[in-house]
Amino acid sequence: MKERTITGVKPTGTPHVGNYIGAIKPALDLAKDENREAFYFIADLHALNSIQNGTQLKQLTYEVAATWLALGLDPETSMFYRQSDITEVVQLQWVLSSVTSKGLMNRAHAYKARVDANRSEGKTDDDRVNMGLFNYPVLMAADILLFQADDVPVGKDNIQHIEMARDIAGSYNNYYGTTFKLPDFFITEETAIIPGLDGRKMSKSYDNTIPLFVEEAKLKKLVNRITTDSLPPDAPKEVEGSTLFSLYRAFATTMETRQMKDAFAKGISYGEVKRELFAVMNRELTEPRLKYQELLYNKNIIDRLLAQGAEKVRPIAKEKLSEVNQRIGLILNFPSILVVKVKPMVKLSTTQTWKEA
Ligand code: TRP
Repeated sequence: MKERTITGVKPTGTPHVGNYIGAIKPALDLAKDENREAFYFIADLHALNSIQNGTQLKQLTYEVAATWLALGLDPETSMFYRQSDITEVVQLQWVLSSVTSKGLMNRAHAYKARVDANRSEGKTDDDRVNMGLFNYPVLMAADILLFQADDVPVGKDNIQHIEMARDIAGSYNNYYGTTFKLPDFFITEETAIIPGLDGRKMSKSYDNTIPLFVEEAKLKKLVNRITTDSLPPDAPKEVEGSTLFSLYRAFATTMETRQMKDAFAKGISYGEVKRELFAVMNRELTEPRLKYQELLYNKNIIDRLLAQGAEKVRPIAKEKLSEVNQRIGLILNFPSILVVKVKPMVKLSTTQTWKEA
């Protein structure tokens, strides 16, 4: 039996170099493992609590899909789909929310962070807290449990969500009998933090990102904008804590990285390092950039690939949801009701009973 690996990617921003090194690349490597069955989906419903503009959500969904495809995700060997195409996820979410205690959700990091921010800004606790944010972990549990995932590759910030999915699965299983497998998280994120233009962690919220597929000239410009210290060109330099070196290492070969490390120790100018960094980044990104642009010009290809992916996973979702529905008592003892058109019934006014028309 293959290990089933599931992960969702929220379409909340244009994918950048930090996303690539930290999450996309390791997940793509996992998907190539023959002992795994990779289910990778675009978590568009999860994006709704922050992206509240339809045009933007659509565009970001295409960008994220094109990114994964351009970087080599194979939609034939992996399951690649859009969360919202599998409506069973949402049905399961409602069922799960009924066995999830509110107290558990109160402890979710993202929700708590918003409350803390509100307090420090003198606002009420519930300010900018929508139910999409509050229920986020339940929807995520539904994504995972519906498909009986073994492993869920995530970054550190999502470990708690997987623990919550286990709690929720346990709670359902307690009420209704063993139905859900308890998933394990799997940390893919490189331990090294990928720094952004200003040296802080590369993140959309710091506005310091290098978008993965910017045009060559723009990429060069961004690389030149990376902040450095003010050591003179020929002074020996530390690789530890160097933004330029961290990025270089992420794109260069082992050999090139070793040579760069030596060059730092001997003394190399930051201008030179930037030229080298641009060269290795551009080398690795040129081909995917072309594929990405091609896909975004032909969005119908993306539509079709995602639709095919949804078709492949939907039967699995339906089967599990129907088991769930049976256990909770939603499916009555009249199986044919789901398959054949039900004959209309007429009421006999005299007897107050019903008979088939
Ligand atoms: N919460 C994840 C993130 O922050 C996205 C996500 C949604 C997810 N559903 C998931 C990840 C299921 C793993 C499994 O990006």
